[in-house]
Amino acid sequence: MKRLHLLVLALVALSLAPLHAQDGAGGAKPQPLPPSPEVYMGRRIAQTMHYLGAEWLTRDTREREERATLMLENLGVEKGMTVCDMGCGNGYHTLRLAEMVGPEGKVLGVDIQREMLQFLMERAKERNIENVVPIHGSPIDPHLPEGEVDLILCVDVYHEFSHPEQMLAAMRRSLAPGGRVALVEFRAEDPQVPIKPLHKMSKAQINKEMVANGFKLVEEYDELPWQHLMFFAKDE
Ligand SMILES: C[S@@+](CC[C@H](N)C(=O)[O-])C[C@H]1O[C@@H](n2cnc3c(N)ncnc32)[C@H](O)[C@@H]1O
Repeated sequence: MKRLHLLVLALVALSLAPLHAQDGAGGAKPQPLPPSPEVYMGRRIAQTMHYLGAEWLTRDTREREERATLMLENLGVEKGMTVCDMGCGNGYHTLRLAEMVGPEGKVLGVDIQREMLQFLMERAKERNIENVVPIHGSPIDPHLPEGEVDLILCVDVYHEFSHPEQMLAAMRRSLAPGGRVALVEFRAEDPQVPIKPLHKMSKAQINKEMVANGFKLVEEYDELPWQHLMFFAKDE
């Protein structure tokens, strides 16, 4: 029954009008991707979550399990900011960020799956939210504007980047002066967190990869039930 439901959902998604997402490729033929390392600095890279599973991202129990409200309150988001929700999926956090930055700010919702962006924009429309910009990224380039983004939020996505070095380099270039990257990942150190090991990361591993790519740890928030929240800035 659930499979049938997912199939119907997929058919509906595919039949919807084409999404007008920004696409940095400018209509040019996409370039072939370099091979993914598959294992990066000792960590096996997880497979991308498929859009057919998007309903899981908006499940009723998510707020209780992850305390997303507490996470959002501790990001330092202010009115007027430009925030990127990297790997935004169907917009569970994007829409709330859009309210937090207000009409004078904007949220760039980046995803590599067009279907996820379609779901995001349908949900934004239902709520009359107009300050969300969908961006169809590639696995090596999120197509963000350079030097303009105050905060890049990555919830449960960094461990899925097939090309972490290229993504981190592009994210680094996109940061405005004083801009930060907030990584939210399920805690690998904690066996009580009921998530498959491939989809968890330890603080040590996160820090190792970020430092190797020109970032420095500037803040941590340790009060979330299942996840690390770590803030990184450019290490000049
Ligand atoms: C597990 S989902 C999390 C979605 C959302 N952040 C949330 O917490 O509800 C991961 C999302 O990241 C996207 N993704 C994976 N690799 C990406 C990349 N290199 N750039 C942008 N999005 C990516 C996937 O398509 C998927 O929608």
